[in-house]
Amino acid sequence: MKILALVGSPRKKGNTDILIDTILCACRRHKTEKIYVYDHKISPCMDCRACQKGNHSCRKNDGMKEIYPRIQKADLIIFGTPLYWYAPTGQMKLLIDRLRPFIASKKLKGKKAVIVVPAAEGPKACKAIVEMFEQSFDYLGMKLAGKILATAYEKGEVAKNAKELKKAHDLGVSL
Ligand SMILES: Cc1cc2nc3c(=O)[nH]c(=O)nc-3n(C[C@H](O)[C@H](O)[C@H](O)COP(=O)(O)O)c2cc1C
Repeated sequence: MKILALVGSPRKKGNTDILIDTILCACRRHKTEKIYVYDHKISPCMDCRACQKGNHSCRKNDGMKEIYPRIQKADLIIFGTPLYWYAPTGQMKLLIDRLRPFIASKKLKGKKAVIVVPAAEGPKACKAIVEMFEQSFDYLGMKLAGKILATAYEKGEVAKNAKELKKAHDLGVSL
């Protein structure tokens, strides 16, 4: 199985990154790849609807050109984002909006998804973001294979939290 992890935090070695690394470490038997979403220039979906026609590709010439084929090749995609105002980070939202070609192409259908969301307030603050991901995966025909909602605030804090790390490790093993 090919696993693609999308790190939607601007902080490398931050909580999202650490939780994702813990998951990936626990499922080394698979082919894994990690993308820092903030390293790529992703412009907003302009609702031009070109992706609804022809070969269902996006006309934009930006960082997504490199990310689209990697998403397509993956069997399981990990969406990692810290909670920002009860929602994903802006950069992760830009990426999610750009998944529109996959509505018409149906190329994400049957793929698995995992969500990883650290938040200062913890899981109780994650109702809306979980709902957003679940509904979006449903729309795209993807299956939610697991979620990690962790309590963490300072950069790298989650690395000292054995309970949260174990949850991420166990999820990785289960994949
Ligand atoms: C702009 C911004 C908005 C945030 N909004 C929330 C929030 O609504 N609820 C919450 O619990 N934490 C919020 N946080 C805290 C982060 O979710 C938390 O620090 C997280 O662990 C950061 O993960 P990272 O290290 O992967 O970047 C916010 C942080 C920032 C910078």
